[in-house]
Amino acid sequence: NTTPTRPKLTIRLCGPRGFCAGVDRAIQIVVLALKGYGAPVYVRHEIVHNRYVVEGLEAKGAIFVEELDEIPEEHRAQPVVFSAHGVPKSVPADAAARNLFYLDATCPLVSKVHKQAMRHQRLGRHVILIGHAGHPEVIGTMGQLSEGSVSLIETVEDAAAYQPADPDNLGYVTQTTLSVDDTEGVIAKLKERFPNLADPAADSICYATTNRQEAVKQAAPGCDLFLIVGAPNSSNSKRLVEVALKAGARQSLLVQRASEIDWDAIGTIGTLGLSAGASAPEVIVNEIIEAFRERYDTTVELAEFSVENEHFLVNRELRSIELTHD
Ligand code: F3S
Repeated sequence: NTTPTRPKLTIRLCGPRGFCAGVDRAIQIVVLALKGYGAPVYVRHEIVHNRYVVEGLEAKGAIFVEELDEIPEEHRAQPVVFSAHGVPKSVPADAAARNLFYLDATCPLVSKVHKQAMRHQRLGRHVILIGHAGHPEVIGTMGQLSEGSVSLIETVEDAAAYQPADPDNLGYVTQTTLSVDDTEGVIAKLKERFPNLADPAADSICYATTNRQEAVKQAAPGCDLFLIVGAPNSSNSKRLVEVALKAGARQSLLVQRASEIDWDAIGTIGTLGLSAGASAPEVIVNEIIEAFRERYDTTVELAEFSVENEHFLVNRELRSIELTHD
C-alpha cells in the first residue's frame, strides 16, 4: 500500500493584504465603546464589510442596524457608531435631533474625500463623483452636499455620455476603493471632453487600495488561480479579483471562508495567488492556507510589494478607555 503523493502547490501570498488602518480603527472604536460604555453598542450599517468581523462584535454585545430609528427608546443613551464607509450629513444631524450619543468611525481617508468634494463646491464647481452606485461610501460622499450638486459617474461610457450644465466648472473626487487603472480611464475620458475639469487637491483612491492592487498585479502572472479573501459587498475586494484576472491569473474568485472553496471545481493547479481585501481578517487567510496544506504539498512564498505603517487614532472620547484598559 503506497500513500498517494499529494500534488505540489506554490502559494504566492501577497503583501500588503487584509486590514487597512481605517478598518482597524473602526473595529477598535466598537470594541472600545463596548469596554467603556457597556453593551449594547449600536452600529449603523456593517462596521466593515465582513461577516466574520460583524459576528465577532455581535458576540461582544454590538447590535447592527441599518437606520437610527431601529434603536429602541430605552437604549438611546448607549453609543451608536457610524461605519467606516462614512455617512451623509443628514445622519449625524438626525442622531443629534434624537439625542443619541454617536461615535463616527468614518475612515479619515473617506473624510478627506468629503472635504475635497466640499472644497470643489466652495470654489463654485459642480462635483463629479466617480464610484459605484448604491455603495455606502458613495451615498455618504453624495450626502455631504445638497441634492443635485453631485453627479455620479461609474464607467467610461458614463463619462462619454455626461452632459453637464457648465462644462468649464467641474471638479471630481472618487470612491476610495476603486480600481486604480479603470479610474484613470474614466478620468482621461472626462478630461478629454472637459479640459478644465479640476482634480481633487489629493488623490481619492487610498493607499491601502493602491498597495493591495499593485501587489496582486505583480503576483498574478502565471497563477492558475487567485483567491481574494473578501465579501461580495466589499468594493475593494471585488476590485482585487478584477485586477488579478487582468494581470494574467487564469481564474480568480472571492472567498469568505475556507469552507466555501469548491475543491472539485478548482481542477489542477500548481500556483495559487492569495490576497485579502481591506476588511478581511488574517485568521481567514491562515484558515485558507491550512485548507490547501491539507490537500497539497504546499510552499508559501511572500509576494511583498510594500510595507505599510499607517495608523489612525480613535475618537477623542475613547482614547482614555484605550489607555486604562489595554
Ligand atoms: Fe480607509 Fe482605504 Fe481602508 S479609505 S477604510 S484606508 S480601504
